[in-house]
Amino acid sequence: MFKELWKRRVKLIEADLLKELRQTRSLDENLMRAMEYSLMAGGKRLRPILLMAAANSVNGDGEKFITVADALEMIHTYSLIHDDLPAMDNDDYRRGKLTNHKVFGEAMAILAGDALLTLAFEVALRQKDVPPETLLTVVKEISIASGSAGMVGGQVVDLRSEGVKIDLATLKLMHLGKTGALFKASIRSGAILAGATPEQLENLTRYAENFGLAFQITDDILDVTGDEKLLGKPTGSDAKNHKSTYVSLTSLDEAKRLAKAAVDAALNALESFGAEADFLRELVEYLIAREK
Ligand code: IPE
Ligand code: IPE
Ligand code: MG
Ligand code: MG
Ligand code: MG
Repeated sequence: MFKELWKRRVKLIEADLLKELRQTRSLDENLMRAMEYSLMAGGKRLRPILLMAAANSVNGDGEKFITVADALEMIHTYSLIHDDLPAMDNDDYRRGKLTNHKVFGEAMAILAGDALLTLAFEVALRQKDVPPETLLTVVKEISIASGSAGMVGGQVVDLRSEGVKIDLATLKLMHLGKTGALFKASIRSGAILAGATPEQLENLTRYAENFGLAFQITDDILDVTGDEKLLGKPTGSDAKNHKSTYVSLTSLDEAKRLAKAAVDAALNALESFGAEADFLRELVEYLIAREK
């Protein structure tokens, strides 16, 4: 049920992403090709999936909010294109294909990222059947999560932490920013769109923070233990760049223990929810067992 629903929704999301892209004008065909190349390269589509699952967990219809979900995937994809650039992690493969700058060149990769980020906000505002005030609340939430107080801020802490010893608290802050912020925005957006109560929103926020943490700790682990073929991206990237990660600052075993603790905390946050939150429960359990 869990895997089938996920697969079915990935199909829905991918068809809708393409539809939104086709409705977008571009002054340059190559720019549109570069945007499409990374956006349609696969990926787990976790952020849109989380938005939908969060809406479902408060008895909403998650699939109704697919347009905002698309926007989150566009922001995430832009962050990956930029993350792989020579000035950042300098990686050659992503989602099983050559990275954007390897195919289109650095300048075009930067601009394709910029265009995807901007398009995300246009697309979010294309969402139908949601009161304008609710949509504005959600768009504001997504904007803050994507910027200096969220994903971009976390990426800067990541770069500043290359080759230096940071403490675990700083590492946690970095993870909550670079990875956690977009997960949190996805979950909170789904909940807000579906009319969550303040208490439900608070619990889902706690779930989201721990989900983000468990996810990024596992990403750090997979960078050491993972299979490049399954992951679709190179392993050893963190060591190559002298990154501070949960594995480099603690140990493989301790990182696994901390990921498990975050999963338990996420499950704990869902205690007051019924079977409607089962998908969220299965999703966070899958995190530490994942191979990609
Ligand atoms: C990878 O994210 C980048 C991080 C935030 C660690 P995902 O693992 O969700 O990447 P895709 O979307 O499935 O390719
Ligand atoms: C990147 O973290 C997070 C964002 C793209 C915001 P990583 O640099 O660890 O992601 P991967 O391992 O390259 O996917
Ligand atoms: Mg990085
Ligand atoms: Mg990287
Ligand atoms: Mg990584």
